[in-house]
Amino acid sequence: MRLLKKVLAVGLASAMVFSMAGCGSGAKGTTAAPEATTAAETKKEDGSAAETTAKAVKDAVGGDLADKKVGISIYKFDDNFMTLYRTELQRYLTEDLGFKKENVVIQDGKGDQAEQTNQIQNFITQKYDVLILNLVQASSAPEITNMCKEAGIPVVYINREPDTEEEQRWKDEKINATYVGCDARQSGTYQGEEILETSNKGDINGDGVINYIMIQGDPENVDAQYRTEFSVKALTESGMKVKELLKQRGDWDQAKAQQIAQDALTQYGDQIEVIFCNNDAMALGALQAIEAAGRTVDKDIYLVGVDALTEAVQNVIDGKQTGTVFNDHFSQAKTASDMAAKFLKGEAVENVNMVDYIKVTKGNAQDILDKLK
Ligand code: GAL
Repeated sequence: MRLLKKVLAVGLASAMVFSMAGCGSGAKGTTAAPEATTAAETKKEDGSAAETTAKAVKDAVGGDLADKKVGISIYKFDDNFMTLYRTELQRYLTEDLGFKKENVVIQDGKGDQAEQTNQIQNFITQKYDVLILNLVQASSAPEITNMCKEAGIPVVYINREPDTEEEQRWKDEKINATYVGCDARQSGTYQGEEILETSNKGDINGDGVINYIMIQGDPENVDAQYRTEFSVKALTESGMKVKELLKQRGDWDQAKAQQIAQDALTQYGDQIEVIFCNNDAMALGALQAIEAAGRTVDKDIYLVGVDALTEAVQNVIDGKQTGTVFNDHFSQAKTASDMAAKFLKGEAVENVNMVDYIKVTKGNAQDILDKLK
């Protein structure tokens, strides 16, 4: 099985070289091993195929991509979704694009912007060739961009979107910086639609008003802001009346969300018809509280999240979560890596690159689960 995956990866890499420009949806791979197979190991085991791939990659980039150094900083390692994302980044960069494993260095920002800024400064001092950054605070983008610009190092921002003014500046001033992510408004809208698609449109007690609680991610983050706003907007724009019983930050964290949901269920009891969570980790926490309170999802309460974590998708199949939204880390990791490679090849890169979210409900949950495996 492991060998089969490697052979598939080699095939994928060859295919990628011949369609180098593509940045849409695409490569899927294992999310299992952070210490993914290196190009060198693959070569040992798959001899000629890997050699052909390495040569094709080299020709396509007009130099040896394998020797370029990629510095990656993740806002914090202790985040379910960003763990899937960084695992896929490393896999794709090494297995599919042919970067040497030792040249792809991933650091933990530990949720501390000052610490992360130091790490980035070190990447710059050590003359890394390109950076892929998941900022602790997106508002630090102008400062970080200027540091990278002065050093002549291109930067690919991922997941936490800098503001549009900053993105426009990269374009206007021809700065080698870009953002790869998803439009969080779309995920919020999908969450609202999932509630509207239930038999009673989220109005379980039939009183004409959807009573909900909102468990937010980190509110500095545009993903949290937009998901909060657009999930509810989908309801009101379809003509439904809503009442927010509670909105509280859970910082994308399962344990925090469990506590918030538990307290809310104690305080508001049967009044709560919908629990919106800005991500699936928090939906998993909310589900623990819902079950402990003796409530039943899709019967007397609805629950939605975002990300399509394996466990959450399984819960959708089992009727324990109303829906989720696939935050496609395969396509985002591929696009971010492809943009880094483009910068290294001196090719033009758009300042913003968006990947689509996919709505996940009972009807397609098994397909999505198969993709994730
Ligand atoms: C979101 C994701 C969350 C969390 C956050 C970190 O896109 O849905 O689970 O990982 O990014 O910025």
